Amino acid sequence: MTEYVLGIESSCDDTSVALVAKDGSVKAIKTVSQYEIHNAHGGVYPELASRAHLEAILPTIQSVMEDGEVTPADLKAIGVTRGPGLIGSLLIGLSTAEALSMGWNLPVYGVNHLRGHMRSVDLEQTRTEYPAVVMLVSGGHTLVAELKDPWSYRLLGTTRDDSVGESYDKVARMLGLGMPGGPAIDAAAKRGTPVLRLPRPMKNDGYEFSFSGLKSSVARHIEKHPEVSLDDMAASFVAACMDVLIAKAERAVTECRPKSLIIVGGVAASPQLRDGMAQLAQDHGISLCLPPIKWATDNGAMIGLATWDYIEKGIKPDLIPKPNLNLETP
Ligand code: KG4
Ligand code: ZN
Repeated sequence: MTEYVLGIESSCDDTSVALVAKDGSVKAIKTVSQYEIHNAHGGVYPELASRAHLEAILPTIQSVMEDGEVTPADLKAIGVTRGPGLIGSLLIGLSTAEALSMGWNLPVYGVNHLRGHMRSVDLEQTRTEYPAVVMLVSGGHTLVAELKDPWSYRLLGTTRDDSVGESYDKVARMLGLGMPGGPAIDAAAKRGTPVLRLPRPMKNDGYEFSFSGLKSSVARHIEKHPEVSLDDMAASFVAACMDVLIAKAERAVTECRPKSLIIVGGVAASPQLRDGMAQLAQDHGISLCLPPIKWATDNGAMIGLATWDYIEKGIKPDLIPKPNLNLETP
């Protein structure tokens, strides 16, 4: 009989629950997004996010158990995001998981959301070969790290200010596009031409990132030249982001000589990034590991698969929400 982990993700604005087997196969998944709730506020509004998680979480769990035709007896454990993320949102997932674990007499593992993203690439099919270089590009994070195995991370660099996903979302707002900003910017960029020369912040400086200056220069350009084609603006912004991300990945690959390059997080859904990284991996003769687009953004399946690592390693972190949990801490 196959055993499953019930993976629960509620760190930001998606309530997502999945049933995941040890080999990464996903028996059932349901994600309830809050885009419509937050759109009117121009960004994720933490108080509204927690309330929406509270309303969605139990029906989502019930529906996944029904879709997967699974009972608590088929579960090995529950895994739930313990951080990083919004404290109120994390609390809803953690307290729900804890209550279910008592009711169903199952162990519950608090999972690092960043580890979840790293493992998203092995859902449904094992892709990662170690050692690897991983780049996490999401709404909450921008980082590059060296990975000797799933438990040995060496952080190479992170962002000093905005994450790349956050800057996509902010630029989307400036251009009058809705949320989520990423896909809207991608679509506009495809129609446009990158004719505007925007800065490439920190492109040639080690592994640190900085995106707030790029975002401000888009704002200044729109203010000075209101007649600018929004599609060209989007294309120029995407070109600048890609230049920086690809330069950092190339530096890491050259220095660490990994077998694979892993790109994860919401921005890994960007076709421009996928194409650019494919070229880079080919040039260096290494394999590129990308999650299918459905697993790039936040989801319960990646938390479910990461939970299996904790089970195997016998690591059982506490269930206290950790809004600033870092990559090195389980
Ligand atoms: O990983 P994720 O779902 O949540 C966090 O952990 O932050 O990432 C969300 C981010 C958002 O900023 C969104 O604009 C971006 O991922 N994103 C994209 C695309 N789809 C989502 N960025 C670029 N291209 C996309 N297609
Ligand atoms: Zn995430």
